[in-house]
Amino acid sequence: MSEHLLVEREEGLLTLRLNRLHKKNALTRAMYSGMAEVLDQADRDASVRAVLITGGETCFTSGNDVADFIQAPPAGLNSEVFQFMRALFEFSKPVVAAVSGPAVGIGTTLLLHCDLVYVSREASLKMPFVNLGLCPEYGSSLILPRLLGHARAAELLLLGQGFTGEQAAAWGIANQALADGAATLAKAREMALRFQQLAPSAVTDSKRLMRAPGREELRRVIEEEGALFGQRLRSPEAIEALTAFMQRRPADFSQFG
Ligand code: COA
Repeated sequence: MSEHLLVEREEGLLTLRLNRLHKKNALTRAMYSGMAEVLDQADRDASVRAVLITGGETCFTSGNDVADFIQAPPAGLNSEVFQFMRALFEFSKPVVAAVSGPAVGIGTTLLLHCDLVYVSREASLKMPFVNLGLCPEYGSSLILPRLLGHARAAELLLLGQGFTGEQAAAWGIANQALADGAATLAKAREMALRFQQLAPSAVTDSKRLMRAPGREELRRVIEEEGALFGQRLRSPEAIEALTAFMQRRPADFSQFG
C-alpha cells in the first residue's frame, strides 16, 4: 500500500485519506492502485457499510500527478487510474466525499461518481483538461451537461473555469457547502456513519437502481473519452501544457492550429 494513502476504520465506515500534502495530494499510479485495491476489498467485506474519501481539512487533491502524466502516461483501460475509477464506478455501497481546498481534474471528476459530497465553501474545484491540451474524462462530458445544462458545463469543460464549493452545492454537484475543512469532514463523517444503522442490502439495491438508467451509454462514453484522453496525453498540445506546468510558466498554444 502506498505511504501516500491512509486507510482508517471506524465501525462500518472505511475512510480513504489522501496523504501527500507536500504535492497537494497529487495522485500517483501507486495511489490509484492502492485505492482500487481498498475499494475492491471493501466491496467484498460485508462489515464495511460505506466509504469516505477525503484529503483532510485543507486539500482534496490537485489531480493526477503531472510528472506521472509526462513520464508514464496512462495506457488504456488497464492503467492504474482506470482501475481506480472502475472500482469507484462499480462500487456497490455508498461513497461519501469530504472536499476542502483544491479539487482539480480527476479530483472533481471522481465526485460525479460519489453518492454524497460535502464541500467547504471556499473549496476550489476545476477540470482544466482543455488548459492541459486534454479532454474530459470518465463520463464527465455526459454527466455534467445533463446536470448543469450545456452552457454552464461548457464554461467548466471548454474553458476549464474553476468554481467554488458554494457553487458546487448550488449546482447539485455537492450536497452541502460548509464553513471550513473541519466542519466539512465532520459532516461527511456523520452522514457516512448513518449507513451503519441502515439495512445494507436495501441501501445497495437502492444505489443500483439509482445508477442504472443510462449506465450502458455512460460506459460507452467513458471508453470513448478514455481512448481520446490517452491520445491527447501524447499530443504536442498536451506535452507543451504539462511541460509548462512543471516549468512554472503559462502554456503557449500559439504555434498550434
Ligand atoms: N502533479 C504534480 N505535482 C503537483 C501537482 C500535480 N497535479 N499539483 C501540485 N503539485 C506540486 C507543485 O509542483 C509543488 O511542488 P514543489 O513544491 O516541489 O514545487 C507543490 O505541489 C505545491 O504546489 P503549488 O502549485 O506550489 O501550490 P499552490 O497552493 O500554489 O497551488 C494548485 C495548488 C492545486 C492550485 C496547483 O498546484 C495546481 O494547479 N496544480 C496542478 C493541477 C493540475 O493541473 N492537475 C492535473 C489535472 S488533469
